[in-house]
Amino acid sequence: MNIPFVYGRLADADDFTGREQDILRLKQNLTGRINTTIVSPRRWGKSSLVHRTLEVIKSESEEYLTCHVDVFNCRDEESFYRAYMNAVLSAATTKMDEFVALVKKYVGSLGPKITLADAGAAMEFSLGLDFYEHKYSIDEILDLPEKIAVEKGKQMIVCIDEFQNVENFEAPVAFQARLRSHWQKHQNVCYCLYGSKKHMLLSIFADYEMPFYKFGDIIMLQKIEREVWADFIVKRFKDTGKSISRDLALSVADKVECHSYYVQQLSQLLWMLTEGTASEEALQVAYQQMIDRSALLFDNIIDGLKPRQISFLVAIANGEVNFSSAAVLRKYKLGTSANIKNLRKAVLDRDLISIDAGVTSIQDPVFKQWLLR
Ligand SMILES: Nc1ncnc2c1ncn2[C@@H]1O[C@H](COP(=O)(O)OP(=O)(O)OP(=O)(O)O)[C@@H](O)[C@H]1O
Ligand SMILES: [Mg+2]
Repeated sequence: MNIPFVYGRLADADDFTGREQDILRLKQNLTGRINTTIVSPRRWGKSSLVHRTLEVIKSESEEYLTCHVDVFNCRDEESFYRAYMNAVLSAATTKMDEFVALVKKYVGSLGPKITLADAGAAMEFSLGLDFYEHKYSIDEILDLPEKIAVEKGKQMIVCIDEFQNVENFEAPVAFQARLRSHWQKHQNVCYCLYGSKKHMLLSIFADYEMPFYKFGDIIMLQKIEREVWADFIVKRFKDTGKSISRDLALSVADKVECHSYYVQQLSQLLWMLTEGTASEEALQVAYQQMIDRSALLFDNIIDGLKPRQISFLVAIANGEVNFSSAAVLRKYKLGTSANIKNLRKAVLDRDLISIDAGVTSIQDPVFKQWLLR
């Protein structure tokens, strides 16, 4: 059976909806060599957007080589360079023997070990033991995209996902300064850096003191509009021989505040519960199922918090705004008003809240409902 709603993996082809303006802006930037940073809370659709935009760019022109580095699992600089190099070399070729030749040609001085897994698996290499004795070779790695682009007579687009993780490296500012000093010299490469920790990313890209200040365009990704979601949901039901009214489809989007991941999840649960036409009652059941399925994750989050931090989240979920007022402090047992700053920082660092134009809110709409219950 073909389930018409997906979550937890990239949305592409028929699963992708909306974002026309974002695709256009990103495409213009990346083909115009304007480095771009994309920031949004988790699961709103950054990776899907970048993936889609690269597909569009490649379908329109053969001029571009594209590659994708995920920093999510990179715990230190070395693993970053390894991931970076694998991605850049893989962009240059899909043939294994050429990959090996390129490794030898460009990074021979590193003494890399090439590990080629079973046929069909991704080509990869690991760095030799003497890697760190030759600091100069890091500079070669960072210039690799430019070298390959020039040699192949193409433009290269390097996308780096979960970029905020570089803040956890041992010397993050020196590391960023190094990247920046190389990347800004590249004439044939454009960089797209994105991630989900807004306050961390803004401290990298919007802080005057930091190496990446004024690196390029910053896109603060917005949610997909409710009307776009409604059209999408109606169409996906119809495509699979079921139906849903436009009003009910709008309710699906509204219930999860247009959060991309949850719209897809809730739609899928509703679709599973529906034989012919989706009903309001089925939507209630689906919504409850969705909260139940997330409960384990939310329990885990709560387990890692202090009682006052939890109470602070509940206060935010309840729509309180004046946290320093005596009434709010008393009602939620938050202690003195001097605590608020620390409480806010603790939950912000964990990415649980967002602060937009001075308004504090719970970032995850389902977590918010769960807190309220
Ligand atoms: N344009 C879109 N159309 C339809 N569904 C989408 C779209 N973008 C995102 N989604 C839904 O949201 C989910 C999360 O998308 P994606 O992984 O692209 O977000 P992200 O912002 O990169 O998340 P993370 O912060 O976890 O890296 C997808 O699995 C999909 O269900
Ligand atoms: Mg992502």
